[in-house]
Amino acid sequence: MSDQPLPYIRPRRLRRDAAMRRLVAQTDLSAARLIQPLFYKEGLTAPAPVASMPTVAQLDLVSLVEHARLAASAGVGGIMLFAVPLERDAQGCAATDPDGPLAEAVRATVAEVGDECVVMADLCLDEFTDHGHCGVLDEQGRVDNDATLRRYAEMAVVLADAGVHVVAPSGMMDGQVGAIRHALDAAGHIEVGILAYSAKYASAFYGPFRDAVDSSLQGDRRTYQQDPANRREGVREAALDIAEGADMVMVKPALPYLDVLSDVAAMSPVPVLAYQVSGELAMVEAAAAAGWLDRRAAIEESLTAIRRAGADAVLTYWATEVAQWLRR
Ligand code: PBG
Repeated sequence: MSDQPLPYIRPRRLRRDAAMRRLVAQTDLSAARLIQPLFYKEGLTAPAPVASMPTVAQLDLVSLVEHARLAASAGVGGIMLFAVPLERDAQGCAATDPDGPLAEAVRATVAEVGDECVVMADLCLDEFTDHGHCGVLDEQGRVDNDATLRRYAEMAVVLADAGVHVVAPSGMMDGQVGAIRHALDAAGHIEVGILAYSAKYASAFYGPFRDAVDSSLQGDRRTYQQDPANRREGVREAALDIAEGADMVMVKPALPYLDVLSDVAAMSPVPVLAYQVSGELAMVEAAAAAGWLDRRAAIEESLTAIRRAGADAVLTYWATEVAQWLRR
């Protein structure tokens, strides 16, 4: 043992104290890289907490605007809006109503924070259809891809007319980005961007979200969302969306799909986002409430891991809270 030379290469030198670690950290979190999802529910007069998503609530219009204000004041990069309508039907008519809840949410938040952060809206029919699918159905009850594209095109123009900065198609229909780009451009909305939910997997981790939007889905989304078993398909979907004109692409969920995120980040010429979904939130919140995890450390580590794997920005229900931590 005494003949053994001592190590002269010592990686621990770069970990010796907080100042050194801060200097050499390869990945950082900043408020600008965080996007806060917000849920507006038509007809509410006060926030309604979502039991399966601690810290998250369905919001009335006044509290939606307050939450958007809090997010912007904390410096978050953007907000992502979802809306729950009073009435649902087979076509999801409320989604394309210029006075419907999502358009209303866009107008209200753009007026409040539109100069400070990017206002985005989820572009999908599932919150608006009575069957809960992301598209309209054919006579056999299957999701009709091309009929759905026409609904998405209409919805995109309604949201753009309401002033949205970016639409985020999340329905995983083939050709959705191209159809939406074409419709936006034809209506003169050349400045409205598309954040494509490109590699979106049929995930059990969306469970709590379905409470947040009072989902009426029976069955599953496996004929349109991706099979969790498939890695290279994530790159294929991202490449198609980029070719169709996506301004940004997204991988979703985040933490269980870091391999896909890394692959997409390696090939993408446009910014890559990741969505830390409801089930990822619920796991940490439940474990922290039981005293099994250090909540703040787990949140910061998970977001850092998602950034490290290649996400330029992250959608997370903790965005405003984390942005406030980063300020102090
Ligand atoms: C569909 C949509 C979903 C989520 C975002 N957009 C649900 C789904 O595909 O079932 C999930 C978000 C989350 O779980 O946090 N409009």
